[in-house]
Amino acid sequence: MTQDEQKRAVARAARDYVAAHIADGAIVGVGTGSTANFFIDELAALKERLGGAVASSEATRIRLEGHGIRVFDLNEVEDLPIYVDGADEINAALMMIKGGGGALTREKIVAAVARTFVCVCDQSKLVDTLGKFPLPVEVVPMARAHVARELAKLGGQPRLREGFVTDNGNLILDVHGLAIGHPAELENAINEIVGVVTSGLFARRGADLLLLATASGVETMRRATATITS
Ligand code: A5P
Repeated sequence: MTQDEQKRAVARAARDYVAAHIADGAIVGVGTGSTANFFIDELAALKERLGGAVASSEATRIRLEGHGIRVFDLNEVEDLPIYVDGADEINAALMMIKGGGGALTREKIVAAVARTFVCVCDQSKLVDTLGKFPLPVEVVPMARAHVARELAKLGGQPRLREGFVTDNGNLILDVHGLAIGHPAELENAINEIVGVVTSGLFARRGADLLLLATASGVETMRRATATITS
């Protein structure tokens, strides 16, 4: 299977998971990126059952609405049973680096509200140690240089993502050269830097379930402490 065929296969598996685990009228959180786009296209088949969706980016909102799926503001939603999103890297503990598409802040907010985070990836994303993929950090523009200096103290080499502004009007520093041995501690340390909006390190709230596309089919991995609703 090509990488796109793997993404399509895992998107179908996520659609089937959603179909089996939601009540009629439920609202589902939807991530951002190429794998999430395949999922959105599959989710359209469930639109008569769905109450709607919460989008983690403007791009996702536009694609959902293009399929006739109603998109809710997160503030209007009390219960989000499932959030489906991709990752740039994921480890065996289902901690992730996200934000290659720059949507990390809204992704982290939607993930915080969701009861179950289903990560959809192809095999290339599964790693032993997070950090080969540069860690995106969203920063308030006036704090860019300060945050870059502080990130360098943590051992990384931050580079401004040129010509990119997030959906929230902020900048992204991509931090190279990290081998993240203690993801939750690093997430906390980055969160404490004044001017940081969010990091793309999803360690404290990782995924609950990983649907991983491989050349021979879709495999399922669960986080040890996951609470899977049914
Ligand atoms: C978007 O900001 C990211 O977090 C994506 O979820 C992540 O980059 C995965 O994207 P792909 O499915 O395109 O690899």
